Amino acid sequence: MSNLVNRVAVIGAGFVGSSYAFALLNQGITEELVLIDLNQDKAEGDAMDLSHGLPFAPTRTKIWFGSYADCGNADIVVITAGANQKPGETRLDLVEKNTRIFKGIVSEIMASGFDGIIVVATNPVDILTYAVWKFSGLPKEKVIGSGTILDTARIRYLLGEYFDVDTRNVHAYIIGEHGDTELPVWSRAYISGINIADWTKGKNGFKKEDLDKIFLNVRDAAYQIIEKKGATFYGIAMSLVRLTKAILQNENSVLTVSSYLEGEYGHHDIFIGVPAIVNRNGIREIVELDLDDDERKKFDHSVNVLKQTMGPVMTSD
Ligand SMILES: NC(=O)c1ccc[n+]([C@@H]2O[C@H](COP(=O)([O-])OP(=O)(O)OC[C@H]3O[C@@H](n4cnc5c(N)ncnc54)[C@H](O)[C@@H]3O)[C@@H](O)[C@H]2O)c1
Repeated sequence: MSNLVNRVAVIGAGFVGSSYAFALLNQGITEELVLIDLNQDKAEGDAMDLSHGLPFAPTRTKIWFGSYADCGNADIVVITAGANQKPGETRLDLVEKNTRIFKGIVSEIMASGFDGIIVVATNPVDILTYAVWKFSGLPKEKVIGSGTILDTARIRYLLGEYFDVDTRNVHAYIIGEHGDTELPVWSRAYISGINIADWTKGKNGFKKEDLDKIFLNVRDAAYQIIEKKGATFYGIAMSLVRLTKAILQNENSVLTVSSYLEGEYGHHDIFIGVPAIVNRNGIREIVELDLDDDERKKFDHSVNVLKQTMGPVMTSD
Protein backbone atom coordinates (compact mmCIF):
# COMPACT_ATOMS: atom_id res chain seq x y z
CA MET A 1 0.00 0.00 0.00
CA SER A 2 1.40 3.36 -0.94
CA ASN A 3 1.60 6.18 1.57
CA LEU A 4 -0.15 9.55 1.06
CA VAL A 5 3.24 11.21 0.78
CA ASN A 6 6.33 10.15 -1.17
CA ARG A 7 8.60 7.85 0.79
CA VAL A 8 12.06 6.71 -0.26
CA ALA A 9 13.83 3.96 1.67
CA VAL A 10 17.59 3.59 1.35
CA ILE A 11 19.14 0.23 2.17
CA GLY A 12 22.82 0.79 2.91
CA ALA A 13 23.91 4.06 4.49
CA GLY A 14 27.52 3.82 3.37
CA PHE A 15 29.37 6.30 1.16
CA VAL A 16 26.84 6.03 -1.68
CA GLY A 17 23.68 5.73 0.44
CA SER A 18 24.46 8.66 2.73
CA SER A 19 25.62 10.90 -0.15
CA TYR A 20 22.37 10.06 -1.94
CA ALA A 21 20.37 10.93 1.19
CA PHE A 22 22.24 14.25 1.47
CA ALA A 23 21.64 15.13 -2.19
CA LEU A 24 17.98 14.08 -1.98
CA LEU A 25 17.46 16.32 1.02
CA ASN A 26 19.18 19.28 -0.61
CA GLN A 27 17.01 19.02 -3.70
CA GLY A 28 13.77 18.48 -1.75
CA ILE A 29 12.68 15.46 -3.77
CA THR A 30 10.78 13.37 -1.21
CA GLU A 31 8.67 14.00 1.90
CA GLU A 32 9.93 10.94 3.77
CA LEU A 33 13.35 9.33 3.82
CA VAL A 34 14.17 6.22 5.82
CA LEU A 35 17.69 4.89 6.20
CA ILE A 36 18.28 1.18 6.84
CA ASP A 37 21.67 -0.45 7.39
CA LEU A 38 23.10 -3.55 9.02
CA ASN A 39 25.20 -1.05 10.93
CA GLN A 40 22.33 0.61 12.80
CA ASP A 41 24.55 3.16 14.48
CA LYS A 42 25.69 4.45 11.09
CA ALA A 43 22.10 4.81 9.84
CA GLU A 44 20.99 6.43 13.10
CA GLY A 45 23.94 8.82 13.12
CA ASP A 46 23.27 9.80 9.51
CA ALA A 47 19.56 10.36 10.18
CA MET A 48 20.40 12.65 13.12
CA ASP A 49 23.10 14.51 11.22
CA LEU A 50 20.93 15.03 8.12
CA SER A 51 17.93 16.18 10.19
CA HIS A 52 20.03 18.97 11.67
CA GLY A 53 20.41 20.49 8.20
CA LEU A 54 16.65 20.57 7.62
CA PRO A 55 16.20 24.25 8.56
CA PHE A 56 18.29 25.02 5.46
CA ALA A 57 16.66 22.54 3.07
CA PRO A 58 14.33 23.73 0.27
CA THR A 59 11.41 21.60 1.51
CA ARG A 60 10.51 19.62 4.60
CA THR A 61 11.65 16.00 4.68
CA LYS A 62 11.01 13.59 7.52
CA ILE A 63 14.17 11.51 8.03
CA TRP A 64 14.67 8.56 10.33
CA PHE A 65 16.68 5.36 10.66
CA GLY A 66 14.35 2.44 10.35
CA SER A 67 13.79 -1.22 9.68
CA TYR A 68 12.53 -3.23 6.74
CA ALA A 69 8.94 -2.81 8.02
CA ASP A 70 9.23 0.84 6.87
CA CYS A 71 9.61 -0.35 3.26
CA GLY A 72 5.94 -1.45 3.24
CA ASN A 73 4.78 2.13 2.59
CA ALA A 74 7.74 3.18 0.44
CA ASP A 75 7.30 4.31 -3.16
CA ILE A 76 10.94 3.60 -3.98
CA VAL A 77 13.54 1.44 -2.25
CA VAL A 78 17.08 2.28 -3.30
CA ILE A 79 19.64 -0.42 -2.58
CA THR A 80 23.20 0.77 -2.09
CA ALA A 81 24.17 -1.91 0.43
CA GLY A 82 26.92 -4.42 0.00
CA ALA A 83 30.62 -4.65 -0.52
CA ASN A 84 32.28 -2.02 -2.72
CA GLN A 85 35.19 -2.28 -5.17
CA LYS A 86 38.61 -2.44 -3.57
CA PRO A 87 41.60 -1.01 -5.49
CA GLY A 88 42.36 -3.35 -8.40
CA GLU A 89 39.03 -5.21 -8.11
CA THR A 90 36.58 -5.13 -11.05
CA ARG A 91 32.87 -4.66 -10.48
CA LEU A 92 32.33 -8.22 -11.66
CA ASP A 93 34.58 -9.55 -8.86
CA LEU A 94 31.85 -8.50 -6.45
CA VAL A 95 29.18 -10.69 -7.99
CA GLU A 96 29.10 -13.63 -5.59
CA LYS A 97 29.55 -11.60 -2.43
CA ASN A 98 26.75 -9.19 -3.23
CA THR A 99 24.30 -11.71 -4.71
CA ARG A 100 24.36 -13.53 -1.37
CA ILE A 101 23.76 -10.29 0.55
CA PHE A 102 20.95 -9.34 -1.85
CA LYS A 103 18.96 -12.54 -1.34
CA GLY A 104 18.48 -11.60 2.31
CA ILE A 105 17.81 -7.92 1.65
CA VAL A 106 15.19 -8.49 -1.05
CA SER A 107 13.29 -11.09 0.97
CA GLU A 108 13.08 -8.62 3.87
CA ILE A 109 11.87 -5.82 1.57
CA MET A 110 9.17 -8.01 0.04
CA ALA A 111 8.07 -9.37 3.44
CA SER A 112 7.14 -5.78 4.38
CA GLY A 113 4.37 -5.78 1.73
CA PHE A 114 6.34 -3.41 -0.53
CA ASP A 115 4.89 -2.95 -4.01
CA GLY A 116 6.77 0.06 -5.36
CA ILE A 117 9.91 0.43 -7.45
CA ILE A 118 13.32 -0.93 -6.49
CA VAL A 119 16.36 0.98 -7.71
CA VAL A 120 19.71 -0.83 -7.51
CA ALA A 121 23.10 0.88 -7.38
CA THR A 122 25.29 -1.81 -5.80
CA ASN A 123 27.86 -3.38 -8.14
CA PRO A 124 27.96 -5.30 -10.34
CA VAL A 125 24.78 -3.34 -10.89
CA ASP A 126 23.41 -5.05 -14.01
CA ILE A 127 23.71 -8.52 -12.48
CA LEU A 128 22.33 -7.45 -9.12
CA THR A 129 19.38 -5.75 -10.80
CA TYR A 130 18.61 -9.08 -12.47
CA ALA A 131 18.97 -10.78 -9.07
CA VAL A 132 16.52 -8.30 -7.48
CA TRP A 133 14.01 -8.90 -10.26
CA LYS A 134 14.28 -12.67 -9.73
CA PHE A 135 14.27 -12.60 -5.93
CA SER A 136 11.44 -10.03 -5.64
CA GLY A 137 8.97 -11.33 -8.21
CA LEU A 138 8.22 -7.68 -9.13
CA PRO A 139 7.33 -6.86 -12.75
CA LYS A 140 10.38 -6.02 -14.86
CA GLU A 141 9.44 -2.35 -15.24
CA LYS A 142 9.50 -1.89 -11.44
CA VAL A 143 13.13 -2.95 -11.07
CA ILE A 144 15.67 -0.41 -12.31
CA GLY A 145 19.45 -0.51 -12.11
CA SER A 146 21.49 2.68 -12.14
CA GLY A 147 23.18 1.11 -15.18
CA THR A 148 25.17 3.62 -17.23
CA ILE A 149 23.37 6.73 -15.94
CA LEU A 150 26.59 7.90 -14.26
CA ASP A 151 28.80 6.93 -17.20
CA THR A 152 26.50 8.91 -19.49
CA ALA A 153 26.73 11.88 -17.11
CA ARG A 154 30.51 11.56 -17.14
CA ILE A 155 30.77 11.60 -20.92
CA ARG A 156 28.36 14.52 -21.21
CA TYR A 157 30.40 16.44 -18.67
CA LEU A 158 33.72 15.72 -20.41
CA LEU A 159 32.33 16.51 -23.88
CA GLY A 160 30.86 19.74 -22.54
CA GLU A 161 34.29 20.69 -21.20
CA TYR A 162 36.08 19.68 -24.40
CA PHE A 163 33.77 21.57 -26.77
CA ASP A 164 33.09 24.32 -24.22
CA VAL A 165 29.33 23.82 -24.49
CA ASP A 166 26.80 23.48 -21.64
CA THR A 167 26.62 19.76 -20.77
CA ARG A 168 22.83 19.97 -20.95
CA ASN A 169 23.14 20.55 -24.69
CA VAL A 170 25.21 17.39 -25.13
CA HIS A 171 23.19 14.33 -26.12
CA ALA A 172 25.45 11.31 -25.94
CA TYR A 173 24.96 7.89 -24.40
CA ILE A 174 27.10 5.23 -22.81
CA ILE A 175 25.35 1.88 -23.03
CA GLY A 176 26.08 -1.73 -22.04
CA GLU A 177 27.48 -3.13 -18.81
CA HIS A 178 28.26 -0.53 -16.15
CA GLY A 179 31.88 -1.62 -16.31
CA ASP A 180 34.76 -2.55 -18.56
CA THR A 181 32.70 -3.53 -21.65
CA GLU A 182 30.50 -0.41 -21.80
CA LEU A 183 30.58 1.62 -25.03
CA PRO A 184 29.87 5.13 -26.29
CA VAL A 185 27.27 5.46 -29.04
CA TRP A 186 29.16 8.02 -31.13
CA SER A 187 26.96 7.46 -34.19
CA ARG A 188 24.00 8.91 -32.23
CA ALA A 189 25.85 11.62 -30.28
CA TYR A 190 24.71 15.19 -30.91
CA ILE A 191 25.50 18.67 -29.67
CA SER A 192 22.80 21.22 -30.51
CA GLY A 193 21.37 18.91 -33.17
CA ILE A 194 24.72 18.49 -34.95
CA ASN A 195 26.29 15.04 -34.99
CA ILE A 196 29.51 14.81 -33.04
CA ALA A 197 31.37 13.63 -36.18
CA ASP A 198 30.71 17.08 -37.68
CA TRP A 199 32.16 18.77 -34.61
CA THR A 200 35.44 16.87 -34.98
CA LYS A 201 36.37 17.75 -38.57
CA GLY A 202 39.40 19.80 -37.56
CA LYS A 203 37.63 23.11 -36.87
CA ASN A 204 38.97 24.75 -33.68
CA GLY A 205 41.40 21.84 -33.32
CA PHE A 206 38.69 19.31 -32.36
CA LYS A 207 39.78 15.80 -33.38
CA LYS A 208 38.11 12.40 -33.49
CA GLU A 209 41.09 10.82 -31.66
CA ASP A 210 40.35 13.02 -28.65
CA LEU A 211 36.89 11.45 -28.37
CA ASP A 212 38.51 8.05 -27.89
CA LYS A 213 40.59 9.44 -25.03
CA ILE A 214 37.50 11.02 -23.49
CA PHE A 215 35.71 7.68 -23.56
CA LEU A 216 38.65 5.90 -21.91
CA ASN A 217 38.54 8.46 -19.12
CA VAL A 218 34.85 7.70 -18.64
CA ARG A 219 35.30 3.94 -18.67
CA ASP A 220 38.18 4.05 -16.22
CA ALA A 221 36.91 6.92 -14.05
CA ALA A 222 35.91 4.67 -11.14
CA TYR A 223 39.37 3.04 -11.05
CA GLN A 224 41.04 6.46 -11.03
CA ILE A 225 38.80 7.82 -8.26
CA ILE A 226 39.06 4.67 -6.14
CA GLU A 227 42.85 4.78 -6.47
CA LYS A 228 42.83 8.35 -5.18
CA LYS A 229 40.16 8.34 -2.45
CA GLY A 230 39.03 4.76 -1.94
CA ALA A 231 35.45 5.01 -3.28
CA THR A 232 33.20 6.95 -5.67
CA PHE A 233 29.97 8.38 -4.30
CA TYR A 234 29.01 11.97 -5.18
CA GLY A 235 28.46 11.38 -8.91
CA ILE A 236 26.38 8.26 -8.37
CA ALA A 237 24.44 9.95 -5.55
CA MET A 238 23.39 12.81 -7.84
CA SER A 239 22.56 10.35 -10.62
CA LEU A 240 20.30 8.41 -8.24
CA VAL A 241 18.57 11.63 -7.20
CA ARG A 242 17.94 12.43 -10.89
CA LEU A 243 16.38 8.98 -11.34
CA THR A 244 14.31 9.31 -8.16
CA LYS A 245 12.95 12.65 -9.36
CA ALA A 246 12.07 11.22 -12.77
CA ILE A 247 10.07 8.50 -11.01
CA LEU A 248 8.33 10.51 -8.29
CA GLN A 249 7.48 13.41 -10.60
CA ASN A 250 6.31 11.13 -13.41
CA GLU A 251 8.68 12.84 -15.84
CA ASN A 252 8.89 10.37 -18.75
CA SER A 253 12.59 11.24 -18.86
CA VAL A 254 15.12 9.38 -20.99
CA LEU A 255 17.84 7.98 -18.72
CA THR A 256 20.40 5.24 -19.41
CA VAL A 257 19.40 2.73 -16.79
CA SER A 258 19.78 -1.00 -16.45
CA SER A 259 16.57 -2.34 -17.97
CA TYR A 260 15.26 -5.79 -18.89
CA LEU A 261 15.60 -6.61 -22.58
CA GLU A 262 13.00 -8.77 -24.31
CA GLY A 263 14.23 -8.60 -27.88
CA GLU A 264 15.32 -4.94 -27.89
CA TYR A 265 18.84 -4.59 -29.29
CA GLY A 266 18.50 -8.25 -30.37
CA HIS A 267 18.82 -9.63 -26.83
CA HIS A 268 16.66 -11.37 -24.27
CA ASP A 269 16.68 -12.07 -20.55
CA ILE A 270 19.28 -9.56 -19.44
CA PHE A 271 19.37 -6.29 -17.49
CA ILE A 272 21.80 -3.87 -19.12
CA GLY A 273 22.29 -0.10 -19.52
CA VAL A 274 20.23 1.35 -22.39
CA PRO A 275 18.26 4.58 -22.75
CA ALA A 276 14.77 4.13 -21.31
CA ILE A 277 11.77 6.35 -20.64
CA VAL A 278 11.23 6.51 -16.88
CA ASN A 279 8.07 7.63 -15.09
CA ARG A 280 6.02 6.96 -11.94
CA ASN A 281 5.41 3.38 -13.06
CA GLY A 282 9.10 2.69 -13.54
CA ILE A 283 10.41 1.90 -17.02
CA ARG A 284 7.74 2.86 -19.55
CA GLU A 285 9.73 1.72 -22.56
CA ILE A 286 13.21 1.11 -23.86
CA VAL A 287 14.58 3.50 -26.48
CA GLU A 288 16.26 1.49 -29.20
CA LEU A 289 19.13 3.43 -30.74
CA ASP A 290 20.07 2.53 -34.30
CA LEU A 291 23.63 1.32 -33.60
CA ASP A 292 26.27 1.07 -36.34
CA ASP A 293 28.00 -2.28 -36.93
CA ASP A 294 30.93 -1.63 -34.62
CA GLU A 295 28.65 -0.43 -31.79
CA ARG A 296 26.38 -3.43 -32.24
CA LYS A 297 29.34 -5.82 -31.98
CA LYS A 298 30.56 -4.11 -28.83
CA PHE A 299 27.07 -4.16 -27.30
CA ASP A 300 26.73 -7.89 -28.10
CA HIS A 301 30.09 -8.48 -26.43
CA SER A 302 28.96 -6.58 -23.34
CA VAL A 303 25.79 -8.71 -23.13
CA ASN A 304 27.84 -11.90 -23.51
CA VAL A 305 30.27 -10.93 -20.75
CA LEU A 306 27.39 -10.21 -18.38
CA LYS A 307 25.62 -13.46 -19.25
CA GLN A 308 28.79 -15.50 -18.74
CA THR A 309 29.41 -13.86 -15.39
CA MET A 310 25.84 -14.40 -14.20
CA GLY A 311 26.11 -18.05 -15.10
CA PRO A 312 23.33 -20.63 -14.89
CA VAL A 313 22.28 -19.54 -11.38
CA MET A 314 20.69 -16.38 -12.62
CA THR A 315 19.17 -17.22 -16.01
CA SER A 316 15.42 -17.62 -16.04
CA ASP A 317 15.33 -20.96 -17.91
N1 LIG B 1 26.22 2.06 -9.80
C1 LIG B 1 27.21 2.91 -9.70
O1 LIG B 1 27.45 3.69 -10.63
C2 LIG B 1 28.04 2.91 -8.43
C3 LIG B 1 28.93 3.94 -8.15
C4 LIG B 1 29.65 3.89 -6.95
C5 LIG B 1 29.49 2.80 -6.09
N2 LIG B 1 28.63 1.81 -6.42
C6 LIG B 1 28.43 0.63 -5.58
O2 LIG B 1 27.63 0.97 -4.47
C7 LIG B 1 27.86 -0.01 -3.43
C8 LIG B 1 28.06 0.70 -2.10
O3 LIG B 1 29.28 1.42 -2.12
P1 LIG B 1 29.75 2.27 -0.85
O4 LIG B 1 31.00 2.95 -1.24
O5 LIG B 1 28.60 3.08 -0.35
O6 LIG B 1 30.07 1.10 0.19
P2 LIG B 1 30.11 1.21 1.79
O7 LIG B 1 30.90 0.04 2.26
O8 LIG B 1 30.50 2.59 2.20
O9 LIG B 1 28.58 1.03 2.20
C9 LIG B 1 27.89 -0.16 2.14
C10 LIG B 1 26.91 -0.16 3.27
O10 LIG B 1 26.11 -1.35 3.13
C11 LIG B 1 25.85 -1.82 4.45
N3 LIG B 1 25.46 -3.24 4.36
C12 LIG B 1 26.22 -4.29 4.04
N4 LIG B 1 25.47 -5.41 4.06
C13 LIG B 1 24.22 -5.04 4.38
C14 LIG B 1 23.00 -5.73 4.56
N5 LIG B 1 22.92 -7.05 4.40
N6 LIG B 1 21.91 -5.03 4.88
C15 LIG B 1 21.95 -3.69 5.06
N7 LIG B 1 23.08 -2.98 4.90
C16 LIG B 1 24.20 -3.64 4.57
C17 LIG B 1 27.16 -1.60 5.20
O11 LIG B 1 26.97 -1.60 6.59
C18 LIG B 1 27.58 -0.23 4.66
O12 LIG B 1 27.09 0.84 5.46
C19 LIG B 1 29.08 -0.81 -3.89
O13 LIG B 1 28.66 -2.03 -4.43
C20 LIG B 1 29.69 0.05 -4.97
O14 LIG B 1 30.45 -0.69 -5.90
C21 LIG B 1 27.90 1.85 -7.55
